[in-house]
Amino acid sequence: MKALIAMGERTARQVAALETCNATLHGTTVHFALVERPDIDLDPADPDHAHDVLVRVHAFSCNYREKGRLLQAARREAGGYLVLGSEFAGTVVKVGAAVDDLRPGDRVFGNGAVDVTDAHPGLTTQRASQQLQVLPRAKLLRFPAAMPFATAAAFSVGAQTAYALVRRLRPARGAQVAVTAASSNTALFAIAALVARGHDVHALTTSADSVPALRALGVRDCCVLAREQPAEPLLQAYLAAHGLAQFDAVIDPFMDIYLRKLVRHLRRGGTYITCGVYQQFSEDVPDAFMEQGLPLDEVFSLIIRKNLGLIGNNLGTTGDLEEALADYTAGRLPVPLDTVVGGGALAHFVERTYLARARGGKVVFTYSQEDA
Ligand SMILES: NC(=O)c1ccc[n+]([C@@H]2O[C@H](COP(=O)([O-])OP(=O)(O)OC[C@H]3O[C@@H](n4cnc5c(N)ncnc54)[C@H](OP(=O)(O)O)[C@@H]3O)[C@@H](O)[C@H]2O)c1
Repeated sequence: MKALIAMGERTARQVAALETCNATLHGTTVHFALVERPDIDLDPADPDHAHDVLVRVHAFSCNYREKGRLLQAARREAGGYLVLGSEFAGTVVKVGAAVDDLRPGDRVFGNGAVDVTDAHPGLTTQRASQQLQVLPRAKLLRFPAAMPFATAAAFSVGAQTAYALVRRLRPARGAQVAVTAASSNTALFAIAALVARGHDVHALTTSADSVPALRALGVRDCCVLAREQPAEPLLQAYLAAHGLAQFDAVIDPFMDIYLRKLVRHLRRGGTYITCGVYQQFSEDVPDAFMEQGLPLDEVFSLIIRKNLGLIGNNLGTTGDLEEALADYTAGRLPVPLDTVVGGGALAHFVERTYLARARGGKVVFTYSQEDA
């Protein structure tokens, strides 16, 4: 079976690879390699695997969080490597004795549900590029035959998180909702979910190039912020131009960038929901754009004085993912794909996943003829 790994130079010199490329990320040279590893199997009679499923991965994609982990692997003095991939789409090969609702050939992807009753909360796998996987049945969801593997490999984490963000935000009818880092994968799903429910979306982005695609999703308008310039005058001008005193709610994938810029522009009693931070690479000096905005003591004071709701969100529930799938099937949820590549195009996959300044959705690597 194949897998995509990342490592520093020391380990890269010892690895026999099918395909390689390098990229400089945050000042570190990272070596990427597509490698062949021994196949794994599942014995259906093994009681330890009664609730498990052997899955063949046809396509996978990587997520923002992996960047920090692969940088750690590449910087580690002792060497070592990280198997990449946070999302996958595949088919069932075998099932354990207690699995009676999946059969060989079924199309499945990860269900990162964090429901408190779930024995395995969180991501299904952090090694999604590994072509064969033994995974708990509870962490898999069937997807429809009409959904290509490449689309399915770009779907579950973004859709599940975004639908949880919108469910927990509970925007009122006619609410003016700001979505930050609007061209991020997470925001693109959140925007589509909000638009499908009839809400007015204000897309805040630092990528002017992404404005046409954001408009095509149905946002009310885009507020383009330049990372090299102060955001505050641009935010004030945007609100004034749209006849708004403040936003009613904010969905934000990068709390450390946007909270200090937006609390003053969120109405009294409004809600701010966030699912992540930008600064996940501890060795880096803080980004100048990130540092802009109110000092944190003023942010805390405003949250209290304005009775703001501040919600942290991690992934979502099985219900969130099922609702997103239903919207996809009904044609209400577009899944933007930036790039789909196969073997022979590893460098392009790495460039679009980790180096491109603005992407138009997820970058997918496919092992499958169907999506090649
Ligand atoms: N907790 C969870 O369940 C969960 C699930 C999924 C994701 N997340 C989190 O959500 C966040 C986004 O993840 P993602 O995969 O959607 O990210 P992504 O697609 O890689 O985000 C890329 C976007 O981030 C913005 N950006 C990048 N560098 C920036 C900078 N220096 N200054 C300002 N904006 C910058 C840009 O948006 P614009 O061009 O539009 O400005 C860029 O297009 C991460 O924090 C991730 O960990 C959390």
